[in-house]
Amino acid sequence: METFGCQMNVADTDRMELLLFQAGYLRTPHVEEADLAIVNTCSIREKAEQKVFSLFGGLKPLKQSNPDLILGVAGCLAQQEQSVLMERIPFLDFVMGPDAVEDIQQIVSRVNQGEGPVLWTEFDSQKNYSIPEQTLVKDPGASAFVNIIKGCDKFCSFCVVPYTRGREKSREASEIYGEIRQLVDKGAKEIILLGQNVNAYGKRGLQQPVAFHELLYGIAEIPGVERLRFTTSHPMDFTRELIQAYRDIDILMNHLHLPVQCGSNRILELMRRSHTVEWYMDLIAQLKSEVPDIALSTDIIVGFPGETRQDFEGTLQLMEQVGFGSSYMFAYSPRPNTPALEMADDIPHEEKQERLQETIQLQNRLTEEKGRAFLGQEVEVLIERKTTRKGMSFKGRNPHYWSVVFKGGEDRLKPGDLARVRVEEVGGHVLRGSWAGQ
Ligand code: 5AD
Ligand code: SF4
Repeated sequence: METFGCQMNVADTDRMELLLFQAGYLRTPHVEEADLAIVNTCSIREKAEQKVFSLFGGLKPLKQSNPDLILGVAGCLAQQEQSVLMERIPFLDFVMGPDAVEDIQQIVSRVNQGEGPVLWTEFDSQKNYSIPEQTLVKDPGASAFVNIIKGCDKFCSFCVVPYTRGREKSREASEIYGEIRQLVDKGAKEIILLGQNVNAYGKRGLQQPVAFHELLYGIAEIPGVERLRFTTSHPMDFTRELIQAYRDIDILMNHLHLPVQCGSNRILELMRRSHTVEWYMDLIAQLKSEVPDIALSTDIIVGFPGETRQDFEGTLQLMEQVGFGSSYMFAYSPRPNTPALEMADDIPHEEKQERLQETIQLQNRLTEEKGRAFLGQEVEVLIERKTTRKGMSFKGRNPHYWSVVFKGGEDRLKPGDLARVRVEEVGGHVLRGSWAGQ
């Protein structure tokens, strides 16, 4: 299995692996030994797509020397291209969309019975979103992702997700609580709720309506959950109740990833984000006044069609004003099926890259400023694993979701423990320090 793209894809790969294991397959790190190879793809930007095609270029000789090798493509690129992908990569045995993850056993068995190539890209709009028990992760680490909603109904003009992952569907709260209880029993301490737009949770597809903030309160009641996070949110679904939840729920960590995309009202409208810069800044101000210690991160797109230098400077200004601790920054990439494709992609490649570099430089400075504030402080770290980094013992994260590596406590601490760490150095978005004892 090879996985590109977001956390959702990583979770889908894990579930496919579990199902394939139940069908008798074992994982191998060597593709030369494999009977079955699946690439779980991403199509969010063109670059992600190119990586997939070059990977298959490398797999071609393998398929020629071993015709029994089954090769499949899963994920968003598969959903987007469907049979076109089979024409472009003629030696494929199956192409399956993100909604077909649970059908992987059937897909492989059809190929094994000589019914290939199989195309499996239908969305079942009638079906509720439920994750079968046998595909739930059995051996979580200290920090575990839990899917709560899939799809997206926002239709931002640049984004393929509503087309590749379909309409929003929420998972019943009782099922989510059940999975979290199991994860905690198996040692998970931190739960990260996952979805393309988690704060739209509960709007559609639930028999028992529950709003997103109510779900958070419900999870906080489950014994053994020590930390709670969620990703990703859309500003328009961010409610007052959710701000209140940050205050009320101790285990809800003081970090929020809230994509803004850009800092120009004209471009925000073309992006169909349905809010203005002022509206976003007001939301941030409310949040900061209720939760002064909140750490913020975001997604930024530069070079959207028609973006002027002035529009772009609005983005830099917004980043500075909010003071994001980190950002994912991208150059706009035109995507099939999206409305923005109709707008002239008129910013030259070099200009996009220059603007991207400018945002990266600005973000580096902001990250450095935020990082410096941790120096000499004690932070609480949830230990995720031991580290092989020289002179260091463990790696984990602090409440603000900064990576922390630290030395000391090797005979006392283990993954899953919360440790107090004194921060001595900062590099990028990583804090380094020493165990401060118990
Ligand atoms: N071009 C560049 N970036 C994109 N994103 C989504 N679609 C595109 C695109 N066409 C970015 C957005 C989104 C993140 C997941 O990917 O910033 O929030
Ligand atoms: Fe894409 Fe917008 Fe939905 Fe995010 S909210 S997945 S950017 S359409």
